[in-house]
Amino acid sequence: MTWLKGNSKEIKMSDKKPSGLEDVVVAQSSICFIDGKRGQLVYRGYDIDDLAENASFEEVAYLLWNGRLPSQSELDGLKADLGAAMHFPKHLLELLKELPFDASPMRVLSLATAALGILDPDADDMSPAANRKKAIHLMAQLPIITCAWHHIRNGTLMPSPKPEKSLAYNFLWLLNALEPDDYAVDTFDAALILHADHELNASTFSARVTAATLSDLHSAVTSAIGTLKGPLHGGANEAVMQMLQEIGEVENVPHYMETLRAEKKKVMGFGHRVYKAKDPRAVILERMSEELGKRAGDTKWFEMTRAVEAIFQPTVAEKGIFPNVDFYSASAYQVMGIPRDLFTPIFACSRVVGWTAHLLEQYANNRLFRPSSDYVGEKGLKYAPISQR
Ligand code: COA
Repeated sequence: MTWLKGNSKEIKMSDKKPSGLEDVVVAQSSICFIDGKRGQLVYRGYDIDDLAENASFEEVAYLLWNGRLPSQSELDGLKADLGAAMHFPKHLLELLKELPFDASPMRVLSLATAALGILDPDADDMSPAANRKKAIHLMAQLPIITCAWHHIRNGTLMPSPKPEKSLAYNFLWLLNALEPDDYAVDTFDAALILHADHELNASTFSARVTAATLSDLHSAVTSAIGTLKGPLHGGANEAVMQMLQEIGEVENVPHYMETLRAEKKKVMGFGHRVYKAKDPRAVILERMSEELGKRAGDTKWFEMTRAVEAIFQPTVAEKGIFPNVDFYSASAYQVMGIPRDLFTPIFACSRVVGWTAHLLEQYANNRLFRPSSDYVGEKGLKYAPISQR
């Protein structure tokens, strides 16, 4: 029997070797609390339902970065800083225009974030004030990069941002070049709040691992974007939409689900490392997706999602597998006219706030991450010249 030491807890390992760092505590944090059994998510002490219902994404960003809600003048200050950062560096535009038009938007976002680090004269200034400024710039610029890439690849013109408006408004306005309706803006704003942080999820952890080497904030966010891209993490919302598009119509759901079962394939948008109850974000997004669909006169995607849940849920509830945040965000984004391959970049546009909050916390109390592995390879081999192998 062996024991693995975490920072604040020891984990017993007998039959099964641990993998995936499950249950290992690697940091102390005051940013986000999750109760996976009760399906509760809390940012800095505030329940996610309360924030999604009452706060704006900008207020939540301030909360995550500073540990408290802003006063009116502090919020006005943040909005002014965000508005001032809503521009697209010319060099970056030229760089993106050179890329193949079928490049994955997540790859583009990753490249562009690294490039923003190259273009920012303060990129290597590690003072808290400089890092806060970089966090604000990234929060304003990731949505612009996402929308700009969409226009570049389609050969269309992106309108100018409206700095006096919210980030949620600007995203929908820049993407569609149409005045967005208020309910869509409110829903999108709430979706940004719901995705903003999630404790030590894979991308946040990778951001903190990068920062812990005292690498800069742009490099850490670039690491996080690469991690978010995978279909087991941020990429799952695209995979949910792909599933809905393959299903096509509500009446095809039973047959499709039977095929998935027979082929032992996972249902995307279901299951979570932490939640063993329905993800609280999925509960809120389910409501919003239904309402959006009704208002747009397009409830097909929502109905298909619900039909998948109705068939699959009873078969896996015992295992603690429930819909996660990606399950209902897919149908909501679809009705807003957002292309499928921008779903994960939108996740990044929101999560950048959580990543940077964690980075500020990491830099303030840094310790290098250096886990070890259980070596199961060979030992004592002798080098043989290539002619003798
Ligand atoms: N569909 C079907 N079965 C699932 C499942 C899903 N979406 N998610 C988990 N399971 C099953 C696994 O097959 C496994 O079954 P087994 O014990 O019989 O082998 C068991 O549940 C545990 O799954 P595992 O993948 O080991 O759990 P995890 O904690 O590592 O996984 C996820 C968490 C999120 C990676 C996993 O649930 C998943 O792949 N979900 C689909 C992708 C997704 O929606 N990701 C977004 C997360 S927010």
